[in-house]
Amino acid sequence: MAGGLGFIGARLACRLVTLGAVVTVVDILEPRAGGNAANVAGIRDRATIHIGDIGDDRLLREVLPGCEVVFNLAGQTGHLASMVAPLQDLDANCRAPLALLEACRTLAPRATVVYASTRQVYGRPLSLPVDEGHPVAPVDVNGVHKAAAETYHGLYCEVHGLDTRVLRLTNTYGPGMRVKDSQQNFLGLWLRLALEGRPIDLWGGDQRRDFSYVDDVVQALLLAARVPAGAGRTFNVGGCPPVSLRELADQLLALSGGGGGVTVSPFPQERERIDIGHYYTDDRLFRALTGWTPRTSLAEGLAATLDYYRTALPLYL
Ligand SMILES: NC(=O)c1ccc[n+]([C@@H]2O[C@H](COP(=O)([O-])OP(=O)(O)OC[C@H]3O[C@@H](n4cnc5c(N)ncnc54)[C@H](O)[C@@H]3O)[C@@H](O)[C@H]2O)c1
Repeated sequence: MAGGLGFIGARLACRLVTLGAVVTVVDILEPRAGGNAANVAGIRDRATIHIGDIGDDRLLREVLPGCEVVFNLAGQTGHLASMVAPLQDLDANCRAPLALLEACRTLAPRATVVYASTRQVYGRPLSLPVDEGHPVAPVDVNGVHKAAAETYHGLYCEVHGLDTRVLRLTNTYGPGMRVKDSQQNFLGLWLRLALEGRPIDLWGGDQRRDFSYVDDVVQALLLAARVPAGAGRTFNVGGCPPVSLRELADQLLALSGGGGGVTVSPFPQERERIDIGHYYTDDRLFRALTGWTPRTSLAEGLAATLDYYRTALPLYL
């Protein structure tokens, strides 16, 4: 599990341990990312955890041989961060997954590699909902690098026969996400502000988006590894029916009992330039092939996430 101390990777690692899998985690615990030891507190003695870089050949030679499935959840998720520090994003989202693929080619050639990509590769939707046939036209450096990483996975399947599968995820939320700031996605910061009774600052607010609860994403990742004839393919995975960001903020405040309310500000210029506007997913292909469907409503997911941070918040600040 690459990135297995991060938000989604750790939740997947925990689920795999519960299912009886032998799990090895490699995570560099990059301070700007969502990695947190608290995310794996429940499995610490039942999984092997290496603090290290998936670009580290020596480490990969130790951990990869014998792996049946390699889930790659490692990466840099911040869109604005990718514009501020594009070369760091290049390292995290291109060099590292390429190094892992290259190591899999030689050390675990029969492994299935499941890579977590993002809906950000589509850029500003030309039509909604967005299916896999929509043009890939990213509007930020992060999207460009994630699209390149997807292409590496397709290439390693086509040319080297490695069984790679890519999921394009939408905004994901749930226990274990980064909440100290909006580096991972804005909803993390909103959760914190709601719990602290501080106002949520809304830019625009009309944008309609879909949101996935992390356990639904974990289920999709597990199914992706076993999709029949899934090698070399890319699938969208969406979430709940779309809501406007204003509706999302209102729902969050109602559930949290937070008195901070909402303030509306003009879009900061550097954010507006890379904002994708409305986005929601058409994931009928993945649903048809796997039977997957999101099981957690937005209200249930937000309530569970708030519950988690009511006690765990200090571990994430
Ligand atoms: N969270 C979302 O809303 C979302 C949405 C779409 C796609 N994704 C994708 O899913 C993946 C996981 O996202 P997340 O939200 O769990 O992020 P996260 O920041 O919580 O986790 C990523 C983890 O990868 C680790 N990492 C980074 N570079 C590494 C390297 N070279 N070697 C080893 N570990 C490394 C970090 O330390 C971190 O723990 C990312 O690739 C992201 O692009 C996430």
